[in-house]
Amino acid sequence: MVTITVNGVRREIQAPNDTPLLYVLRNDLELSGPQFGCGLSQCGSCSVLLDGKEIRSCVTPLSAALGKEVTTLEGLPARWAQQKGLSKVEAEKTLHPIQQAWIEEQTPLCGFCQNGMMIKATELLERNTTPTVAEIKEAFTTSGPSAHLCRCGSYTSIIEAVQRAAQVMAKAR
Ligand code: FES
Ligand code: FES
Repeated sequence: MVTITVNGVRREIQAPNDTPLLYVLRNDLELSGPQFGCGLSQCGSCSVLLDGKEIRSCVTPLSAALGKEVTTLEGLPARWAQQKGLSKVEAEKTLHPIQQAWIEEQTPLCGFCQNGMMIKATELLERNTTPTVAEIKEAFTTSGPSAHLCRCGSYTSIIEAVQRAAQVMAKAR
């Protein structure tokens, strides 16, 4: 048995250390944000944050999460609430600005890839609140082990949603 911290909560896991983190999140912890796409670190749909950095959970062993903070799509509202210093009551009614922007821009088509897109956007906007279009494209294409792929071609609205979220996050700081 090992203990990992996911979305701010310590969770005990009974699985071998080399189990892919994605399997633990989806099967043991019933977190359905991260998706199984390629299983080969080539699409980005399984992405989560590990100490604030985007990783591909399909190829990351459970052991890599020991002593670190895992944040999934489900944990983004609480992450934002903590960064903003919101009360518990306020936090329960709050979406992360990235999730809100995705809704307002009607970004998802089939939606399968969008977990990874929002996780990557979170990583980007936490370190750069005013990214240029070129920096947004770079984040989604060449900054990680592979480009984040959207088979539906929602790339333009992803860029627009990142820009919308960036405005909200910059104002909040
Ligand atoms: S499922 Fe992990 S990168 Fe595709
Ligand atoms: S919205 Fe369908 S794969 Fe991206």
